[in-house]
Amino acid sequence: MLKWKRVVNLNPGERLAENLKIGNLELKEGTKLDRDMILKLRNSEIEWVCVYSVELDVYEIDLEPLLPHDFLDEMKESIDAIVNQVNTTGRFDPDFVREMSRRFVETVLEQYEKDVFMNLVKMRNFDEYTFAHHINVATISLIISKELGLNEIKIEKVAISALIHDIGKLDVPPYILFARRKLTDEEFEVMKKHPINGEKICRKSGLKDEEIISGVLQHHEKLDGSGYPYSLRDGEITYVGRIVGVADVYDALTTERPYKKPWTPYKALSHIIRSTKAFDTKVVNALIRAFGIYPAGTKITLSNGKKAIVVGSRKGMVYLPIVSFIDDDGRKITVDLSESKKIKILKVGW
Ligand SMILES: [Fe+2]
Repeated sequence: MLKWKRVVNLNPGERLAENLKIGNLELKEGTKLDRDMILKLRNSEIEWVCVYSVELDVYEIDLEPLLPHDFLDEMKESIDAIVNQVNTTGRFDPDFVREMSRRFVETVLEQYEKDVFMNLVKMRNFDEYTFAHHINVATISLIISKELGLNEIKIEKVAISALIHDIGKLDVPPYILFARRKLTDEEFEVMKKHPINGEKICRKSGLKDEEIISGVLQHHEKLDGSGYPYSLRDGEITYVGRIVGVADVYDALTTERPYKKPWTPYKALSHIIRSTKAFDTKVVNALIRAFGIYPAGTKITLSNGKKAIVVGSRKGMVYLPIVSFIDDDGRKITVDLSESKKIKILKVGW
């Protein structure tokens, strides 16, 4: 991303997005500005310069995916295979889904046992939406289940359900599913059928476990009855439906779509926390315990005046994340705020 900045506002570490000449000194596009260069610029006639946004650099460099790349490739192949099965035969192989889920649970929990929780899958392009959404919702659901202390059998059910929760969208016409705009009321009514379509596909596939099916059917239901397709309330929504529902909203809000900008993880979490009537408080609290109050990707301003990005958080340290920022010499610094007494969070946002 490019931006124009007044020379007086430049910070060390910012990269030039244009060629500049200050007396004999030639600065090429891409040069990382240091203190000396900025001083020379300030003493020159130049008032404005075009730079690349440093903030974006920090974001791109630091947020490593939670799951290993080769594992994500394997999962993508499996999800593509399920989509293909449903598109050609109207059903999927439940044993194949179970096996994929077993691998998924094993790998995610192995990563989660490590101390630091990092970032979710970031889409590289919109074609990857189905894959990234299912993997993210399944990852979040799984970790919530673990935080809630569910047993292995229940955790497995949540994982299977989350991995196929939107399978009914395959029955939604592509002009609605891939609309690069807000849907009309009529189109949204068609879209709202996807949980029922999903349930049908599950039953046709021979999936018999009602709890697994409930996540597919109920993930858009809300405790106050404002959800769909059946406007269920409180006790009518299963634990699978509640968990997958919260995970689904969190991923949907933080993901960029052709018709909307992504919310920041902090804003999405704040929205979910405030929606006390819609979501199960225990589930939301488990989400907070796992992700922290400031999830990875949140922009924060530190007490040292630096603009920082949250890159992770240590388990149990919900208020004190790990952050990265660019120091005065243009170096990227990563600080674990749970171990730093000097640096505090001043505010969310820059
Ligand atoms: Fe959905």
